[in-house]
Amino acid sequence: MNDQTQYGSEGPLKGIKVLDWTMWQFGPVSASMLGDMGADVIKIESLDGDIGRALARMAGRYTGLAGDRNAYFETCNRNKRGIAVDLKTEEGRQIVYRLVEQADVFIENFRQGVPERLGMDYETLKKINPKLIYGSASGYGPKGPDSDKPSLDGCGQARAGLMMSATPPGATEPNRVIGAASDQMGGITLCLGVVSALLARDRQGVGQRVDVSHLSSTMWLQGLAVGMNLLAGNPFGHIDRQNPVNPMVNLYECEDGRWIQFMSSQFTRYWPQFVETMGLQELLDDPSTANPQGMRAGSPELTAKIAARFKQKTADEWIEVLDTSADLIYAKVQSIDELQDDPQVIANNYITDFDHPVLGKIQVCNFPVAFSETPAGIWKEAPELGQDTETVLIDELGYDWDDIQRLQEANAIL
Ligand SMILES: CC(C)(COP(=O)(O)OP(=O)(O)OC[C@H]1O[C@@H](n2cnc3c(N)ncnc32)[C@H](O)[C@@H]1OP(=O)(O)O)[C@@H](O)C(=O)NCCC(=O)NCCS
Repeated sequence: MNDQTQYGSEGPLKGIKVLDWTMWQFGPVSASMLGDMGADVIKIESLDGDIGRALARMAGRYTGLAGDRNAYFETCNRNKRGIAVDLKTEEGRQIVYRLVEQADVFIENFRQGVPERLGMDYETLKKINPKLIYGSASGYGPKGPDSDKPSLDGCGQARAGLMMSATPPGATEPNRVIGAASDQMGGITLCLGVVSALLARDRQGVGQRVDVSHLSSTMWLQGLAVGMNLLAGNPFGHIDRQNPVNPMVNLYECEDGRWIQFMSSQFTRYWPQFVETMGLQELLDDPSTANPQGMRAGSPELTAKIAARFKQKTADEWIEVLDTSADLIYAKVQSIDELQDDPQVIANNYITDFDHPVLGKIQVCNFPVAFSETPAGIWKEAPELGQDTETVLIDELGYDWDDIQRLQEANAIL
């Protein structure tokens, strides 16, 4: 809607204006992704700011960075400008209503009832801008007995089955996937919903409300497992590494303690090369290990034999052998702190450099989609609280400096 000569990258959403009234990770990530794709995103915060700014530790790690920046907030809020507006004041609400007139998208992720209390609900905003796309994030969806319950990542992972899916056999307690996977998946899914609704607006002329929850998106993250369970019963019992049905769909530990995950699931196609590479050709002469029929019951002895072979070389030595003498499907198991040195990550710019005005030259995880003609990109660090309030109000909404002073004195803006 705005001509966006100044803001945003050259991405596919160039010219789209997004109002991002969100906090923590779920909502902020969805808006940040729109920003990565070139939308002009204005984050709207209370005068105290998004609670994510104050998150001191995550998974035991301190989040504080130089210049009072916060790793959690920076990661979830790049490519945004920021204004601080007290929506509990009438003046504050009027500011946002004027922005809504110009906006394409509005995103919120507050507890059910909060948008209604502050006059930021879809019914109110669509009267101002009927073509608005209104993205709403919740824990469990807008309907049902738990629609008004608060939710953070672990709740989504717990309720949607992801924690149990991530729990290894024999573990005595459920396991949570790190990095707030349910929040991240929620944000990704909401971004998809908003982009699709923008397309529908252009093709069909309708604005609409788009709802995504922790529950819906985390179920969808496991869409194959959930869908197949409904059709055929749960086929995703935990894989027994000591006795897999197919030993080429298994994890093996190497001499240096590193692991290789094999996914060479087509037995007939891959088994001969696999055993030859391992130096276990004799397995092809034994009917119990030569073909899928013989293998059907699995075999702990066979798996132990293969596992012992893997212990004879380091993971990199095995990978060299595998790369030169076989065409198998496998990957070395890595941790996230190895990714920045991974040649594939480097070659594809999956981690990219960014010149941060406060933190200096940093690396950030890049937008995961590469567009050949309208590249996504990182063009701006996360905003400081209220950093752009005056510019937005004066340059884009027609307020003057007297108005700014009056609004500040009324505590409607920072
Ligand atoms: C995230 C969540 C658990 C936080 O719960 P909470 O801290 O109790 O916050 P609520 O959403 O209930 O309320 C937010 C408060 O901020 C206030 N607020 C937010 N923006 C404001 C602004 N710009 N100006 C003034 N007040 C503002 C709201 O009015 C509300 O206060 P109130 O209850 O006094 O009206 C909850 O919002 C939630 O479940 N959201 C949906 C799921 C989700 O996205 N979770 C986050 C995952 S990262």
